[in-house]
Amino acid sequence: MTPSDIPTRDRLIVALDLPAVEQAEAMVARLGDSVSFYKIGYQLAYAGGLPLVRKLADQGKKVFIDLKLHDIGNTVARGVDSIAKLGATFLTVHAYPQTMKAAAEARAGSGLKILAVTVLTSYDDGDLHAAGYRLGVSDLVEARAQQAQLLGIDGLVCSAEEVGALRKIVGHQMHLVTPGIRPAGAETGDQKRIMTPARAIAAGSDYLVVGRPVVEAADPKAVAEAILAEITPPLAA
Ligand code: C5P
Repeated sequence: MTPSDIPTRDRLIVALDLPAVEQAEAMVARLGDSVSFYKIGYQLAYAGGLPLVRKLADQGKKVFIDLKLHDIGNTVARGVDSIAKLGATFLTVHAYPQTMKAAAEARAGSGLKILAVTVLTSYDDGDLHAAGYRLGVSDLVEARAQQAQLLGIDGLVCSAEEVGALRKIVGHQMHLVTPGIRPAGAETGDQKRIMTPARAIAAGSDYLVVGRPVVEAADPKAVAEAILAEITPPLAA
């Protein structure tokens, strides 16, 4: 499926950033048919949440495992092999060439797609310099996006502000997945570079990752449905 064919409902990925599996399952039940795609990250995965991946997949949901793998190639490949068997749709790795190559090869023949995290959005040029990098954020993001494409990576996690520049580099074959989404009027939390759902889709994002505005809402389903309404294209006249 090319990014332009993605059904609107699948474009919203709700981050199940919750401390316990029971809470995650209760949230999935509350969201019902409104949400078809969930993200499981460190908090839930390390609280026993990985079996939920198969359970959700068996219910027809898609799952994004956000574990941002990075290790020697052999270890990454074995990890990807195990994750592919859980029935997940997306898995994140850090955008280091050895890691991306191992992950792309190990997922071949499975339904799993690999997303690369170019540079963490909490990093600025000073943080990169302190970590020993010569390039600044925008140059490193561009270099890593090019490497990801050459190595057969399926998509990139990026801020909505980076989408325009990245589309010029990777075209429309790679999925661009953007966190840092805030419906108008929502709390920003610790996200700095934020965009509304409609603006992020207009900028060229394929998938929006939304956590706290949905899972901490008094009525999560209403918030999810409002986001979907905001990104549903108008019917042709
Ligand atoms: O609660 P909020 O909507 O800010 O959640 C965004 C989700 O996206 C979190 O699970 C966070 O870890 C993830 N994320 C992010 N920035 C990135 C990559 C992932 O906020 N660069």
